[in-house]
Amino acid sequence: EQQQQQQQQSSSSAAPIDGPANDGDGGGGPRGLEGPDPEKDDPVHLKRRVGLVSGVALIVGTMIGSGIFVSPSGLLIRTGSVGMSFVVWTGCGLLSLCGALAYAELGTMNTSSGAEYAYFMDAFGAPPAFLFSWVSTLVLKPSQMAIICLSFAQYAVEAFASECDPPGEVVKLVALLALVLILLVNCYSVNLATGVQNAFTAGKLIAILVIVAGGTCKLLQGNTQHLRNTFDSFEEKQEDTTVQQQPQGSVFAEAEFYGKLATAFYTGLWAYDGWNNLNYVTEEIKDPSRNLPRSIMIGIPLVTLCYALINVSYLAVMSPLEMIDSEAVAVTFGNRILGVMAWLMPLSVAVSTFGSANGTLFAAGRLCFAASRQGHLMDCLSYVHVRRFTPAPGLIFHSLVAGAMILSGSIDSLIDFFSFTAWIFYGGSMLALLVMRRTRPNHPRPYRCPLAIPILVLVISIFLIVAPIVDNPQIEYLYAAAFIGAGMFFYVPFVKYGYVPKFMDGVNAFLQMLLEVAPTAAAFD
Ligand code: ARG
Repeated sequence: EQQQQQQQQSSSSAAPIDGPANDGDGGGGPRGLEGPDPEKDDPVHLKRRVGLVSGVALIVGTMIGSGIFVSPSGLLIRTGSVGMSFVVWTGCGLLSLCGALAYAELGTMNTSSGAEYAYFMDAFGAPPAFLFSWVSTLVLKPSQMAIICLSFAQYAVEAFASECDPPGEVVKLVALLALVLILLVNCYSVNLATGVQNAFTAGKLIAILVIVAGGTCKLLQGNTQHLRNTFDSFEEKQEDTTVQQQPQGSVFAEAEFYGKLATAFYTGLWAYDGWNNLNYVTEEIKDPSRNLPRSIMIGIPLVTLCYALINVSYLAVMSPLEMIDSEAVAVTFGNRILGVMAWLMPLSVAVSTFGSANGTLFAAGRLCFAASRQGHLMDCLSYVHVRRFTPAPGLIFHSLVAGAMILSGSIDSLIDFFSFTAWIFYGGSMLALLVMRRTRPNHPRPYRCPLAIPILVLVISIFLIVAPIVDNPQIEYLYAAAFIGAGMFFYVPFVKYGYVPKFMDGVNAFLQMLLEVAPTAAAFD
């Protein structure tokens, strides 16, 4: 995201309005399978600047965010043993890698930006593509934002509450404050937003280096006790804990096992989310048919390795039960081994999550901007601030939805809600790949992934979607499904037939004056 923002920044002087639409998540739009040649089609279009190194950075920089600092305890709870949690961590990495390889085939077949949006358009036509932009603007991006802001708040507050657990309200309030601050930064100037992003990415790297270095020292000193017999349930190891025996062999126990496994994957997969990020900016990659698959093959294993090392480091310093008890693992880690420098940990995690939230809002604003320019969302969401050239209405809109999610949810429930919805679309992309192998067998595929990969990922995504519902039907899953379905009620009158209610003119005019925004003349595709 950092890279993509730099491009945004450099393009903003020449063609201020050009960047947002081409920038990122959801931009571009349908252009048919050939994809555009930006440099030929449009002189002010972003240049192809993302090479191999920046491609890897774009993937790694998006994937590493809040998850590795908040998910490890949740994953231990949901798997019940250290060994299983490692299996799930690695499994999530492999699943992301397989998903991304299938996306590499899709991305090199259709090189227009916008990932899922473009692939759905090719394979299934406009309605599913609309549903994707509808759900990602209203649910996926805002829930990402809410989760990251809540993680930020948890670490920021934890730093000041060493003795007791910080009250939930305080965490939510701090999360809202962070959200507002990030909104202001992004509305104020694109340069400021990219500056924040660059500086804060450094924080992320420091945090990871410190954790891995600290863990390695501890391991070398012989603190390996929590890494032995890892498949024993840690609850049984703890003498004073009464272990509840579960009814073995019954259908219910099995459903529960699979449901738990699926939600454990949700927790882990959140930390890996962002593996498809390069596909949103394919138009800006140099030689995409080589660099897209390569960046994926380097970036995702790298993140998997980092996550495994960080988990080992945590366990070198604390027991699994201590990890579960800790509201903020990295803080506990810092308190144990950094001595007087312990403040470094919450600070760098807060900095990292803040940066990741900033990048997520940055991309979300562009997605909103692009989708409304396609006639898929209200017109006023595509307006741009008249002096600052930031897509302020889109940013504000996202922040309002994200704010409501912060108030109404917890990190864990939001992660489940997010992953459930996201995997419906990731699975949909696998189906798109399989469909196009049949419907367009002779279309050039510069990168062809083995057929088993999309089939495997499709089956796993169906499992991930169905198992938690069967095990523990939660109302949130129903909301998510109903919300996707509700999109069709909007699609038919407002998008297919282009009906605009009369009062919208008034609303648009009012917002234009209130926010000092205007429609832009620069066409983005
Ligand atoms: N994996 C990231 C984290 O652990 C979240 C990425 C959010 N996704 C995105 N496309 N920005 O915080």
